[in-house]
Amino acid sequence: MNILVTGGCGFIGSHTVVELENAGHEVIVLDNLSNSSKKSLDRVAQITGKTCKFYEADILDRDALNKIFDTEKIDAVIHFAGLKAVGESVRKPWEYYNNNITGTLTLVDVMRQHGVKSIIFSSSATVYGEPAFIPITEECPKAPCTNPYGWTKSMLEQILMDIQKADPEWNVVILRYFNPIGAHKSGLIGENPNGIPNNLMPYITQVAVGKLKELGIFGNDYDTPDGTGVRDYIHVVDLADGHVKALKMIEQNAGLKVYNLGTGKGYSVLDIVKNFEEANGIKIPYVIKERRAGDIAENYSDATKAKEELGWVAQYDIKDMCADSWNWQKNNPNGYDE
Ligand code: NAD
Ligand code: UFG
Repeated sequence: MNILVTGGCGFIGSHTVVELENAGHEVIVLDNLSNSSKKSLDRVAQITGKTCKFYEADILDRDALNKIFDTEKIDAVIHFAGLKAVGESVRKPWEYYNNNITGTLTLVDVMRQHGVKSIIFSSSATVYGEPAFIPITEECPKAPCTNPYGWTKSMLEQILMDIQKADPEWNVVILRYFNPIGAHKSGLIGENPNGIPNNLMPYITQVAVGKLKELGIFGNDYDTPDGTGVRDYIHVVDLADGHVKALKMIEQNAGLKVYNLGTGKGYSVLDIVKNFEEANGIKIPYVIKERRAGDIAENYSDATKAKEELGWVAQYDIKDMCADSWNWQKNNPNGYDE
């Protein structure tokens, strides 16, 4: 298929471009480079031996989108483009709602005007809020979010569902990611956060590489086996493969589909520190800090539905995730910057 990947220069997008090209799809990337580097696509080309088309464009720019859809033959869109920093979204709610929601509304409008009615959307386990039950199945009710970023995902799911309901020619596949970490085995592409990382694994790798002194663990008094927060970490290459598998639902004209993408296993912050140390032979100094506002104790998926319907099962374990995150960081201490 010919796939337009919005946000294709980013962390998950670049890994998905690799898996799409390896599976024989033609890829066109659109990205405004607000949180990424075009160098990621040069690295993708090194891995796959193929060069994809690239448009530096914004999903808010209707004219630019029209030009791309007029020029390219597009069968489906995989839509990663969006702002994703939880804390920043609390400080800049307008920017998050505008970029993520207005941007997606513009994209979807241009899509339908060009007769392209298939989209795979990056959602998040954040839509489950404080989950009603664990492991979290897709039947778990959505809950209030604790920040504007989460609300953009929750609202966009609803918007896409309503659009599909009104016009059943649409195929909408909503993928709810748990916690993506890891990097491509080559160490050529990986996560490249701006400034001090907010998320656990990039923080740990920056401690390991000597850029940060020690990890702060946000709370050790949660109702979990060791008191630290439990999450379902998933290797980004497995996540990328989930998108390739989800295209099957578009080929089958399946209408609306919602899947969790997680491993089904929960690991605590201390488990991650221990596995990172064992996988890489590096000590990670840490201190226990206050709980972080908005964090929940525990969150992991039931990944049965994606297995049964997409034939997708995560292949990589926590040691692979820790080893591959470190392999990327140590080879690229400054990310894509020289
Ligand atoms: P990322 O920031 O690395 O990638 C997002 C890309 O979108 C970036 O390259 C950025 O430049 C681009 N972008 C942002 N706004 C744009 C716009 N208006 N027009 C064009 N391009 C734009 O983030 P990621 O981790 O790869 O996440 C990809 C998607 O998955 C996002 O929608 C994110 O919300 C979602 N998601 C991520 C996680 C996670 O933990 N990484 C978890 C759940 C969901
Ligand atoms: N943590 C620390 N220290 C840090 C960073 C994180 O102890 O420096 C802890 C957190 O308290 C949490 C765990 O590590 O218990 C994971 O935290 P992350 O920030 O890596 O991930 P979150 O689960 O908070 O959030 C992620 C994404 C969100 C997404 C959410 C739900 O960042 O975008 O998963 O899928 F919404």
